[in-house]
Amino acid sequence: MTRTAISPRLATSTFENTPYGCAVDTDRAISGLRGSRFAHFEWVDECCSTNAELAAAALRGEGDQVLGAESQTAGRGRLGRVWQAPAGASVLCSVLVRPDAVLGDGHLLTTALGVAAVEACRSVAGVTPGLKWPNDLVVQDRKLAGILAESHVTDGRIDAVVIGIGINVNWPAELPEDLASIAVSLNAVVGHDVDRTDLVVAMLIGFERWLELLAAPQGAGELRDAYVAHSATIGRRVRVESPTGAEEGDAVGVETDGRLIVDFAAGRRSIAVGDVVHLRVVT
Ligand code: BTN
Repeated sequence: MTRTAISPRLATSTFENTPYGCAVDTDRAISGLRGSRFAHFEWVDECCSTNAELAAAALRGEGDQVLGAESQTAGRGRLGRVWQAPAGASVLCSVLVRPDAVLGDGHLLTTALGVAAVEACRSVAGVTPGLKWPNDLVVQDRKLAGILAESHVTDGRIDAVVIGIGINVNWPAELPEDLASIAVSLNAVVGHDVDRTDLVVAMLIGFERWLELLAAPQGAGELRDAYVAHSATIGRRVRVESPTGAEEGDAVGVETDGRLIVDFAAGRRSIAVGDVVHLRVVT
């Protein structure tokens, strides 16, 4: 699989005058990330999937790094789905982290990136999305971003986690019919293009801050509080969909391990995997 790096010249000529706004400025991003855990930052024109590329890097034994792409030919979504996005219009990137013992739980890493992405949208675009369980960013129940974490296990322990995020940033106004009712992009919410370089840098700096906090004893609690504060799912009537069927209940909280606590007619249960559909607000 080839990974085509964008030279500043190509980036400019390819994207600057498209209706989707400016390309991600690799030099500016690298300068914003200098000295951080994510100083190893690369942004390419096209690759198959940034998650797949960093999974290969993890297998080669490489350390913490970030890979972003203007477009992907085989973007991966949760639960085996495909992730599609118009070229040059999103933040499509993955982070490879080698977690220490504290961060051995991949769920904390995913939550940390989700909260960091919400905070970056707030600081850069002035929009505060909600977090739909487990880790989608939503605005008025339409999907703004999705996160996919994949762990790499060696000898029974997680030695690397690749967490990928796709944020819809400067999407064209006309969306394919199947996407129009379920997806939203930042430019549609704020009424102008949003700087993707600023957004990705703010997200990564925020993510690093949460990772540092997680190394402290109170860190996991603080992250959970932030997740709950931004949750768009808690307090909603939800339909939980899994391979075994669908069931309605009231979402009432999240466990410290990230499972969603739902009150069903038959009693309270915590959900580890699945899809949740938001229904009405529970009064
Ligand atoms: C979801 O289904 O909601 C998760 C979508 C995750 C998409 C991102 S885009 C960048 C990274 N590379 C991938 O192949 N997938 C993730």
